[in-house]
Amino acid sequence: MIIDEIISCRNHFESDISTVNSLKDLENLRIKFLSKNGLLAKLLEQLKSIPKDQKPVVGKELNVLKNFIESTFNSKKESLEINDEQKEFIDLSLPARNFSIGSKHIINQALDEIKAIFKGLGFSVKEGPELESDFNNFEALNFPSNHPARDMQDTFFINQKFLLRTHTSPVQIRIMLDQKPPVRAIMPGRVFRNEAVNSRSHCQFHQIEGLYVDTDVTFAELKGTLVAFAKEFYGNSLKYKFRSSFFPFTEPSAEMDITCFICKGNGCRVCKNSGWLEILGCGMVDPNVFASVGYDSEKYSGYAFGMGIERIAMLRYGITDIRILFENDIRFLKQF
Ligand code: PHE
Repeated sequence: MIIDEIISCRNHFESDISTVNSLKDLENLRIKFLSKNGLLAKLLEQLKSIPKDQKPVVGKELNVLKNFIESTFNSKKESLEINDEQKEFIDLSLPARNFSIGSKHIINQALDEIKAIFKGLGFSVKEGPELESDFNNFEALNFPSNHPARDMQDTFFINQKFLLRTHTSPVQIRIMLDQKPPVRAIMPGRVFRNEAVNSRSHCQFHQIEGLYVDTDVTFAELKGTLVAFAKEFYGNSLKYKFRSSFFPFTEPSAEMDITCFICKGNGCRVCKNSGWLEILGCGMVDPNVFASVGYDSEKYSGYAFGMGIERIAMLRYGITDIRILFENDIRFLKQF
């Protein structure tokens, strides 16, 4: 009976498709059931010789079978194809892609080391903005307007009132306006000066500022702190000297020199044959500065210092052109 054959064909197909695991198996199944000479075609062929009165029933059953085989086949095909794509996607045999890990810029390396030393000496770290008011950058630091001392630092003015800070000293003002003594902080940051860019100078560089204000702060403490720092940073055997200098915001003012660590004081190109390298400016906070932030200079005294970071990094690594520190040339950066 053809009805029995239809049932057995369906069973046969179901058991076959349950074992299909690949597109190749599926293709064999297609040939067996759905091709021109396949089992389904053979059953449909038999419909011709079926008595007329049974045709509608048998025809309907055949149709159901055909739809079942086709739809089951198609959904199986779809799921095998998705699997296949995923298999290609996760190719565990591919060699892993090399990804290169960046390194800290030497300016940041130097900053980190300096910060760590001063933190060990009890200083906290504070930062201020690069865009500053004329008041914080000059006025409060005892540079009166039109005073020639302003020419010490060529300034990028934004307008009458605002400028790109020329040093990190305005952060001193911000801290003192913000809190009462005692203050013991270092202030790292980028500064700007309107200078021609060449191998020795740049229109941007970094400084670290230091400020200590309390009752009875002395110049001896300033020296002691800076010598402790320099010995830790440059090595214990270093020799140093303080030369008197001038800054509007400190009185007295000094610059600190250390023995050239390239030639050990014998004289070389880097120290211009003097055997000495200037590393920072410093001094006792001028009473006028205290007055502009509302500190009582009868009660409090303090010291401040500031050093350039590029110079330190350049001396350390024998870099002769400051511009390379800002170009982000990977061939340079990779070396540190
Ligand atoms: N701000 C000074 C400069 O940029 C450095 C300095 C800071 C000097 C603090 C004395 C005290 O040259």
